[in-house]
Amino acid sequence: MGRTMPVAATIAIDGPAGAGKTVVGQGVARALEYLFLDTGAMYRALTYLALSRGVALDDEAALVALARQASIDVLPDGPADGRPYTVMAAGEDVTWQIRSPAVNDSVSIVSAWPAVRREMVRAQARLASRGRCVLAGRDIGTVVLPNADLKIFLVASLEERARRRAHELAARGEVVDESALRAAIAARDALDSGRAASPLKPAADAHLLDSTCKTVEEVVAAIVALADGRAG
Ligand code: DC
Repeated sequence: MGRTMPVAATIAIDGPAGAGKTVVGQGVARALEYLFLDTGAMYRALTYLALSRGVALDDEAALVALARQASIDVLPDGPADGRPYTVMAAGEDVTWQIRSPAVNDSVSIVSAWPAVRREMVRAQARLASRGRCVLAGRDIGTVVLPNADLKIFLVASLEERARRRAHELAARGEVVDESALRAAIAARDALDSGRAASPLKPAADAHLLDSTCKTVEEVVAAIVALADGRAG
């Protein structure tokens, strides 16, 4: 069956931490031969730079200045060390550094600043203007791409999201305390959903998908089917 999506289509995937946006977004992008951009990596890269340069997390203007100087870039490939993509910031490969507990704990503070968000959204919308892309984040369907051709809001239970994160960390040889992880994810959910600027919430026209009891392949197939116009 032919695709019903426009040639220069855009797909928005939003949802809370650990719902599977990155792995699913990559799978959808691969299936459709689209570009994939994980916008969370951009907020993480800025947070890492701020922490490593001693920029105060409550100094909105300094964070914006840092975002402008840093030329944060998310590139589709890089060394074969298990990375989903390569993140560059201020000329440095920060792909693994942006996953540190320190960045996890601070990224919701940095990403809550309206002027920081404006800076990031501008860069993301510019990238998506060429079409044929899948963007994953919290505000893609509501703010970055309000006219996206397909919007997905991906959710999963808190237990399942903590279990997935624990699994990822254990695979990288890190020691994990799953209940601490669950509390950290719940705290981040609350900050992301409760902030004044572009809070995490489904767009009115988003398809809600629950990945709790589904494999990555099943979720990817469901989204590709929606893109194909085979499912309502
Ligand atoms: O998806 P992630 O866990 O890597 O996202 C990191 C943080 O960045 C998350 O706590 C919220 C924020 N974020 C955001 O506010 N808007 C986006 N489009 C993407 C991420």
